[in-house]
Amino acid sequence: MAQQRVLRFPEGFLWGTASSSHQCEGGNTNNQWYRWEQQGHILSGEQCGEAANWWLLAEQDFERAEQMENNALRLSLEWSRVEPAEGQWESATLDRYRAMLMDLRRRHITPVVTLHHFTDPLWFAERGGFTRVDNLRFFVRYVTHVVTALRDLCSFWITINEPNVYAIQGYQTGGFPPGEQDATTALLVLRNLMQAHVEAFYAIRALQPEAQIGYCLHYRPFEPANPLSPLDRSVAGVQDTFFNWAPLHAGETGRFTFPANMLLSPIMRAAGARDYHGVNYYTREVVRFDPTISTEAFGRRFVRDGVERNDPGLDGNFGEIYPAGIYHVLKSVYKRTRGNKPLYITENGFSDVQDNRRPRAILEHLAMVHRALREGIPVRGYFHWTLVDNFEWNNGWYVRFGLIEIDPETQERIPRRSASMFGEICRANAITEKIVERYAPEAADAIFGPTRESGAATLAL
Ligand code: BGC
Repeated sequence: MAQQRVLRFPEGFLWGTASSSHQCEGGNTNNQWYRWEQQGHILSGEQCGEAANWWLLAEQDFERAEQMENNALRLSLEWSRVEPAEGQWESATLDRYRAMLMDLRRRHITPVVTLHHFTDPLWFAERGGFTRVDNLRFFVRYVTHVVTALRDLCSFWITINEPNVYAIQGYQTGGFPPGEQDATTALLVLRNLMQAHVEAFYAIRALQPEAQIGYCLHYRPFEPANPLSPLDRSVAGVQDTFFNWAPLHAGETGRFTFPANMLLSPIMRAAGARDYHGVNYYTREVVRFDPTISTEAFGRRFVRDGVERNDPGLDGNFGEIYPAGIYHVLKSVYKRTRGNKPLYITENGFSDVQDNRRPRAILEHLAMVHRALREGIPVRGYFHWTLVDNFEWNNGWYVRFGLIEIDPETQERIPRRSASMFGEICRANAITEKIVERYAPEAADAIFGPTRESGAATLAL
């Protein structure tokens, strides 16, 4: 009898979903994203409102994660609830977070807690946020406060989510609050966020020596439209370096590469200040030289015709569904950091309202993660973005990343097929032939590789 093909993941692999406070909790009216929304920046005109209602009912969704046999769950704390005014600490907030973390632990779900996921308290934003190096002490004080209060319930911390996205979107492209368009400020903010991570790392290390502490960056390959064109290659290379590799390099060594190093002071005590590398991966972009776009370093980014895509209208953000990219990113991060730390996929997801493409996309991305594992890259976990639909920043409810659909009017949950598939993968700690047959039979060869005569392609680690 032909042997079943299977991609097994290592024992203890973390399987979960990722989310953030502002996108899920609801009722966050004291941070800069709320102000941004009030200023009319949400493209659909929607309001975050009660979001996915986690402030009141997160546990009901944790139960759904438990049913999917997730053994981990990533969420974030809302600084503006913990410290609503400078130096004013809200103990009821910590009680609520304690209840959430206890609930997860009761379900044998390891909490992974992000301390900063894009939102700043208004008072902090008004003081200049991360543009000012003397504001970092406020972040470290907040981190010290919450870790002291929650360390008995959590030992896996992500200090800052995507310093590169926060800095570039907020201060260079102007797509995120505060909507500035100044590349020099963006670099400065990036530098300060990385320094904030380092300070937070040492603060947590002192409070909780056994903790796992790191941060995650958003990685997005930028590839030349025409690989034979030196101009396309060079503009794609500039974007790739600026967005992906300069931040990683700076985080690793404390130094920025030329020309950023002419503007920025080094990050103090950076070397070694992390226990893992957090990798957020969604898509790739293709870049063509265009002398008219000086704001984007003369590179016009686009999505090739005919490729598999996320939902329409998202090309600038989440265009192509490109599974090989997750493998290339893992490999590059591993190589560039000389394999010094384990890696986690801290986010990976797809906007697909109808859930037509998501099951196959998840399977193909996981197959690529497995390929990296087979090549000896120490990937320790995968967090799918996201458990339930949530309020997607500027795109509001238009963009649906959830394994489980939400009707924002009624808060009704409607599981997508992807949710049951993800559950089966987590339960098996593997991608089995049965799962592929059920959810994306057409992708079997892409996932397992072409069937060989022997039939046996069991890829265990
Ligand atoms: C962010 C998430 C966001 C996701 C999809 C990531 O860059 O960390 O907050 O929802 O992308 O846009």
